[in-house]
Amino acid sequence: MSTHIGASPGQVAPTVLFPGDPLRAKWIAETFLDDATCYSEVRGMYGYTGTWNGTPVSVQGSGMGQPSMAIYANELFKDYDVASIIRVGSCGALTEKVAIRDVVIASGACTDSAKNTHRFGGYDYAPVADFGLLRAAYDAASEMPEVTTHVGLIFSSDSFYSPRPELMKAQVDHGVLAVEMEASALYTLAAQYGRRALAICTVSDHIVTGEETTSQEREQTFAAMIEIALRAALT
Ligand code: HPA
Repeated sequence: MSTHIGASPGQVAPTVLFPGDPLRAKWIAETFLDDATCYSEVRGMYGYTGTWNGTPVSVQGSGMGQPSMAIYANELFKDYDVASIIRVGSCGALTEKVAIRDVVIASGACTDSAKNTHRFGGYDYAPVADFGLLRAAYDAASEMPEVTTHVGLIFSSDSFYSPRPELMKAQVDHGVLAVEMEASALYTLAAQYGRRALAICTVSDHIVTGEETTSQEREQTFAAMIEIALRAALT
């Protein structure tokens, strides 16, 4: 096993769906995959492998925030030779162009994290999605009229409870659609390892209007997003 994932090499599929919540990982595996088995319960951060339309797929919880996510993404790429990671998460909408329950596919991710400042010695770096995954996800979403999908920038924050929310205005004025907490580091790690990554998020709360989804709505829109992710991953 790797340091934080209790699987032998070969137990994790080349394609991994990557929700923040480990109980979502369990739900995705039980709802969408055939013959899913749990390969890791270390720290309660469940990982499962099953098949979707006959192709092996894993689902691994990442935890919340870039430091937790990066532990699992590093080990998936380095120790399990994973080819593609698709984050399936939630986000807060930062603009009225995006509505609650919409799906946002992140073409790139800005951040307030110092991770890349350290990594690149102060030079700026633009973490972007894998274009093939992005295009496949967009094509899959276009065939689902029940979901409104946006492709654009998101903001990966280190703080769910931001001490300076007013700083988001400049980001929004430069095209940022929504805030979450993982994509920037995920895209950077995929670039480091030469692998593929994509972040797809459903809008669970609206920072401008104050709207929130109910847990039942979250489940429904989450299901549409998983369908998009699986179709994109296995195209
Ligand atoms: N902030 C950060 N991450 C999030 C949010 C938010 O408002 N909503 C869902 N994920």
